[in-house]
Amino acid sequence: TYVITEPCIDVKDGDCTLACPADCIYEGGRMFYIHPEECINCGLCLSICPVDAIFWDGEITQEQKPFETINREYFGAA
Ligand code: F3S
Repeated sequence: TYVITEPCIDVKDGDCTLACPADCIYEGGRMFYIHPEECINCGLCLSICPVDAIFWDGEITQEQKPFETINREYFGAA
């Protein structure tokens, strides 16, 4: 799945939602979140984000790793 990370906070550009064919990107509070079960792993959101907040979970940096859990927990998934 793809994961939205720290640079999205208080930026919330939103263009990723326009790129997403699965409509799996949701606005919540100070950032947007990708639903890990609804994401179809297409990667179309990745290059659209102007602040490079979106990562493939297999290539996420150590620094942004906590956002994997943060995205999951936002949707109440385990
Ligand atoms: Fe956030 Fe980037 Fe989308 S700033 S709302 S992840 S385009």
